[in-house]
Amino acid sequence: MPANDSLIHVIGEPPLFFLQSPGSSYVMGVHPQGTLCHLHWGAPVAPDQGMASLLNIPRRAFSTVVRHENGEPVPLDILPTEYPTANTGDFGSPAIDAEHADGTRGLRLAYAGHRLFRGKPSLSGLPATYVESDDEAETLEVDLRDEPSGLIVTLSYTVFAGRNAIARSARITNTGPRPLTLRRALSAAIDFAARPFEMIHLPGSWARERWLERQPLHSGEQWVGSRRGASGHQHHPFFALVTPGTGEEHGEAYGFSLVYSGNHLGGVDVDQYHRSRALTGLHPEGFAWRLETGEAFQTPEAILVHSRSGLGGLSGTYHRLYRERLVRGLWRDRERPVLINNWEGTYFKFTEDKLVAIATAAAGLGCELFVLDDGWFGERNGPETSLGDWIVNLSKLPSGLDGLARRIGEQGLMFGLWFEPEMVSVRSRLHTEHPDWCLHLPGRPRTESRFQLVLDFSRAEVVDTVYRQMEAVLSSAPIRYLKWDMNRHLTEVASAVLPAERQGETAHRHLLGVYALLERILQRFPDLLIEGCSGGGGRYDPGMLFYTPQIWCSDNSDAIARLRIQHGTSLIYPPCTMGAHVSAVPNHQMHRSPSMRTRGHVALAGVFGFELDLTSLDEADHAEAIALTRLAKTTRHLLRHGDLHRLANPFTEDAAAWMLVLPDATEALVTHVTILASPNWFDGRLRLRGLDPAALYRSCHGPSGEWRGDFLHHVGLPVKLERDFESTVWHLRRAF
Ligand code: DGJ
Repeated sequence: MPANDSLIHVIGEPPLFFLQSPGSSYVMGVHPQGTLCHLHWGAPVAPDQGMASLLNIPRRAFSTVVRHENGEPVPLDILPTEYPTANTGDFGSPAIDAEHADGTRGLRLAYAGHRLFRGKPSLSGLPATYVESDDEAETLEVDLRDEPSGLIVTLSYTVFAGRNAIARSARITNTGPRPLTLRRALSAAIDFAARPFEMIHLPGSWARERWLERQPLHSGEQWVGSRRGASGHQHHPFFALVTPGTGEEHGEAYGFSLVYSGNHLGGVDVDQYHRSRALTGLHPEGFAWRLETGEAFQTPEAILVHSRSGLGGLSGTYHRLYRERLVRGLWRDRERPVLINNWEGTYFKFTEDKLVAIATAAAGLGCELFVLDDGWFGERNGPETSLGDWIVNLSKLPSGLDGLARRIGEQGLMFGLWFEPEMVSVRSRLHTEHPDWCLHLPGRPRTESRFQLVLDFSRAEVVDTVYRQMEAVLSSAPIRYLKWDMNRHLTEVASAVLPAERQGETAHRHLLGVYALLERILQRFPDLLIEGCSGGGGRYDPGMLFYTPQIWCSDNSDAIARLRIQHGTSLIYPPCTMGAHVSAVPNHQMHRSPSMRTRGHVALAGVFGFELDLTSLDEADHAEAIALTRLAKTTRHLLRHGDLHRLANPFTEDAAAWMLVLPDATEALVTHVTILASPNWFDGRLRLRGLDPAALYRSCHGPSGEWRGDFLHHVGLPVKLERDFESTVWHLRRAF
């Protein structure tokens, strides 16, 4: 028998499984006929045999049934199947579809056993959440077997102590005598009873990533996904189902976040009984994975989060889990350096002396890291050439990377470098020497984007070559930071070396190659801080966070546009993962000119940095930039450890506001930005959250004052609404 404080309880025969989190329960049961059914996910229920009554599902008119061995009909199109299959009586969207050696399709999965253990296993070759000790989690594995083929699906559920999150994935093993091909292998499915859910997701585009959309569910299928070979700017590997009226603090919310950076599909199929089947996983289109006898396929992990305290509760669970047990390595717990990146300051047009001048100016502000962006290698003076030829351009940088890093180091700054490892320029030595190393369809034109092609990372020798090139560069100079960019999506997805029956594996194998390269670089350079990037925030996903503790949020560096981008991103991702820079005005993307202070206040919501030519600041902006850098440094522990509260919504209001508060409520950083001013407003008040109501807080930055926590919660800080783009930051400390 499990101990009372166990996270997973198994009772009865056939078994009922109770996965117990602090604020929720997830319950499954095995139907006497063998199907594993989903019974409940929501508010906590005690482990009790009464749940088995939910398995007594009467058939309806027109039901498909299978006969139980006692002769009873079991209605397969009504059972809330935990991992639904195709072509065998469940007409909803399946989680798995397999083609047998004779070309026929169909599986019927029946419970075949389970295992319970402490801790959480890693997923070989895939990014995943982890634990540091076995006390932090318990894992349940349930085997489902398709008798005729010998296919075994092992569903894995990890429950984390103290977190309302469950990690789910599936391992699919062919134990039968003949090969078969997986046509669909999703990570998770949940059948919800009829409820009037709304769906929240995060669509966007380049420079407009992760805008928040919310619509009521309708009958039928509603999906978001990517077929681009990357998680993409356009649709995010995340969606949430919420009850109507759910806000930041109230309402029930269910989150589905896929730990994956490639093609993905997520969404809901609402059936004839108004029940919602939520699914998330690898996009099935173009996917076909052959399993020979004895081979297994591991799906990516999905992180399911339940909240009864609205979107704020949902985000809080994701933030803590992702910053504590997805991000890893040295930089997980380290405060991130304030950086200066030269991209928007110089683009491709720079000299060594110009870079050193920018670094010198940055040192004067208090910056700690200089990042040399695109254009340092081959003949790269524009986007047309040289990706793949990772050799320093000595006509631009006569002292080489080492010499430049030394000169930057003399200013007291660390040195960082940009790479785009997965790509090759059509005009490059690498492509001339190895024209078949990119993804392409034989005998067909190769679609270019930004003059580049995608290297075929499903090939070990390609990954090896890029690793060796990177290793040589990274060990040639004291490089402490790497910006890992990816500036086009995948087309003509095919590999020159995979056999015909395995071509459908290319996209996933390619991504496994990307992950393998990231892992190898981290093993070789464990101190390296890697910032992910993909034309801005086009690959900002939990998969990349496993390797890159921070990700450039968007190429849109306009402070006002960033309010929505950062708000949407914060639904899942903690602020300490979001790269956010102060750039020049008029802004290069939006042509707006918010003040240096407002640009800085918005960048303080993420990993703070600058991205402009600092040698040309006027006196006032220079002084402001010094003050902002100081503030970024004195408050960055709040970014690392603080809980985020979104106080105003820039999608629905003419303002944005948020605060970070330490878990012990001793300190908070509060930001308010007016977007468009309102005429003749008397007063504005910003109500705070997460403070100690009985404590007194003193402002140690921003407008001065002393307020009790309950006053700040229920009355609020006075805010200015008179001027467009005006912002205020308060750094509050508990006085007693
Ligand atoms: C896209 C990135 O988002 C930019 O920040 C910059 O690094 C360019 N690529 C360089 O080509």
